[in-house]
Amino acid sequence: MGIRDANGELAARAARVMAGGHLSPSRRLGHPIAFRRASGPYLYDANDLRYTDFHCGFGANVLGHCHPAISARVSEVGQEIDLIGAGITELEVDTCEAIARHIPCAELVALCNSGSEATYHALRLARAATGRKTIVKFQGGYHGWHDAVAMNVQSSAEGIGRYDPLCAGILEDTARHTAVLPYNDAGAVEAFIRDNPGEVAAIIIEPIAHNIGSVIARHEFLADLRTIATEHGVVLIFDEVITGFRHALGGYQSICGVAPDLATFGKAAGSGYPVGIVAGRRDIMERVGRTGEGSVFMGGTFNGAPSSLAAVQATIGELSRQGIYERLNELGARMRAGLDDIAGRLGLEAQSAGFGSVFLLYFFAGPYSRYDDLLANDDATDLAFRRSMIEHRLISQPLPLKRMYLSLAHTPEIIDGSLNLIEDILKRWKAAA
Ligand SMILES: Cc1ncc(COP(=O)(O)O)c(C=O)c1O
Repeated sequence: MGIRDANGELAARAARVMAGGHLSPSRRLGHPIAFRRASGPYLYDANDLRYTDFHCGFGANVLGHCHPAISARVSEVGQEIDLIGAGITELEVDTCEAIARHIPCAELVALCNSGSEATYHALRLARAATGRKTIVKFQGGYHGWHDAVAMNVQSSAEGIGRYDPLCAGILEDTARHTAVLPYNDAGAVEAFIRDNPGEVAAIIIEPIAHNIGSVIARHEFLADLRTIATEHGVVLIFDEVITGFRHALGGYQSICGVAPDLATFGKAAGSGYPVGIVAGRRDIMERVGRTGEGSVFMGGTFNGAPSSLAAVQATIGELSRQGIYERLNELGARMRAGLDDIAGRLGLEAQSAGFGSVFLLYFFAGPYSRYDDLLANDDATDLAFRRSMIEHRLISQPLPLKRMYLSLAHTPEIIDGSLNLIEDILKRWKAAA
């Protein structure tokens, strides 16, 4: 009789009942692994094998899985209140006040359930406020699944410079109102806005392009976008769904010193509980919740769901502790330095990248400041490396250029142990090449 493989059994059941066998293609690991529980930096599969998690729930789990302070607050709030959906709740007011205290641009705050919802609403607000239609996004930026932005993320060389939709079924009539421009190139943005006078409603940007690993916006580029947006009456939106709460409680805007008109948050804000946040300028945000002329409808049965708000409150509490971001960032720096050491020792055309607790290894040696530069990445090696990591029970997305994360539950010892495994993987790959 063979040994029972609970992972394989669950994967077979999933294939029979779940569309595509997974809840999204981005969750495929390339192996039949079914997780049953999570704790701190670790995941446990159905065969009770332990994995070190460098995926951290797409970055949401900044404190580590099932953090006691989060679980306790969620359970405490759950004894008192569930979904009301009428009037306001004390929990909503307390949470929005806490968010507004930390985020520089947050004169007013609105809540929804995901990053995609947040960017959807922010863009609609920008269109309502300006009476214009066109959106500017950047090649390599991901802002969610909706039609106005689901395009031109990890494009092939042929996809750059033209419409490159993320999937079928997108309404091209919506997508054609979005212009895709190169990252870190303020001249291109200014030229586009000048060539299309009175048409651009919003510029939406990830202040660190983490959806293609980690391409950091030059601070002067962000400052230039601020100037251009102000000059032309365009709404500047920082999509801080990854950077917010993970790199600083006030988001990347508190690090770079450039304030957008609107900003969107999600992921780490709720430590794994679903939340989306839109925050920004009073005169734009006050359209939400109004009715009549110029109002912007931001409905949602689950907006402000108590379990999520309990998680947001507890997350802010934990991340407000003295020295927390220094600790998180030191872990990231240790990982990146270790990866560079390995690449150097093995003579690989590879370099670490990242910011704070985000890291990855790019498989090319040159400089980079926009997506086109990343076409130099050796995707086949990148993919093989990630698949090997998973075989060694180090979890990240097995897709080239994808970022990896650390949480506060990861320790220097976990990082060093993982680096040893990574060195073995890369040595073996080099010997076989
Ligand atoms: C920068 C950015 N914006 C928006 C989103 C969409 O967020 P969600 O997956 O919560 O809808 C993501 C998701 O990865 C993201 O990385």
